Amino acid sequence: MSGDHLLAHRHGDRTGELAGGGAVLDFSVNLAPAAPPLSELSFSSIPLAAYPSMDGRGVRDFYAARFGLDPECVLATNGAIEAIYLLPRALGLKRVLVPQPSFFDYGRACRLASAEVVPLALSESGSFAFPGIDALAEALAGCDAMMVGSPNNPTGILIPKELLLALACRFPDKTFIIDEAFIQFTEEFPSNSLMPEIRAFKNIVVIHSLTKFYAIAGLRLGAIVAHPSMIERLYVHKEPWTVNAVAEHAASKLLHCGEYEREVRSIVREGRRQIADGLAGNSAITLHGGAANFFFASVTGGLALDDLVAHLRLRGILVRDCRNFEGIAPVYFRFCIRKTDENRWLIEALNDFAESSRIAKAAVEEAVS
Ligand SMILES: Cc1ncc(COP(=O)(O)O)c(C=O)c1O
Repeated sequence: MSGDHLLAHRHGDRTGELAGGGAVLDFSVNLAPAAPPLSELSFSSIPLAAYPSMDGRGVRDFYAARFGLDPECVLATNGAIEAIYLLPRALGLKRVLVPQPSFFDYGRACRLASAEVVPLALSESGSFAFPGIDALAEALAGCDAMMVGSPNNPTGILIPKELLLALACRFPDKTFIIDEAFIQFTEEFPSNSLMPEIRAFKNIVVIHSLTKFYAIAGLRLGAIVAHPSMIERLYVHKEPWTVNAVAEHAASKLLHCGEYEREVRSIVREGRRQIADGLAGNSAITLHGGAANFFFASVTGGLALDDLVAHLRLRGILVRDCRNFEGIAPVYFRFCIRKTDENRWLIEALNDFAESSRIAKAAVEEAVS
């Protein structure tokens, strides 16, 4: 099977995969830790027999109202994934700078559009931070675009907005595609989003997703936010009706969930602190990132990721094994922030793992001495 075959790459979401049907705490998928705000959604008021609007107008109007955007700056998509695949194809990109590690589909979308992917290595020694402007200017030589997540998945690092704006100013002929699928989880939101800047920057394109923050992966809602001239260009390549009637209807309901938004942000803020504190003394695990609703982590001291994953599975806990992300050592995993009690389970299981590994190592050392 080719590496770009649709089913070749495994994303997160392993719910239901554990043998024995025990309780599953799925930390592998990065959705908001609260019940979706659309539990009352009823099909009876949605005209299913009719075609939806050609351009996903209900979703476009949501973005305009919720984020204070002009409707002509918004192109509604079937989740952020449609945007990720539309952009390299529609813009005819040739060489795209893509960080490693990052979301698998950036590279795949570029390759399918016959664009060359130029990897930008993010290193653990630099805490997976994005390089500074001079290193980036060098890396961008010969590229016509850059596609990055801010915050980046899986590293959970936010790219400073000033850096992205400075790049866009310095290279007006290159396109900067910024995936803000997780931006609403960050402490600094909304001041760190590039959405308000797109009128002033014709070469910045923001991809946004409603999947993660509103926990509605099944509905497929997202958008491209960009200068009207860019949106017009993309419409030339856009398929009709990719946003269905249920999604359009659901988007209008999301306008009335301010309480849900505050709840999610507060749970994530608390959980981030709880996990960082709870694992501070753990000698087997190193935490990275954490700007969004997930942590990137590594097993240290020569311990095996397989052993950790097996240890967690025995306790009914799933995390995202990150060995199929390119450009990193095979010791990384990712887990999302959930509610306090659930986080406690994970913290205890990870601390147990550190303790049992320490005891096993001491026993081996004693046996050979
Ligand atoms: C960084 C990133 N961008 C985009 C997506 C896709 O989002 P959507 O479900 O809105 O298509 C994902 C899904 O995991 C993601 O991790």
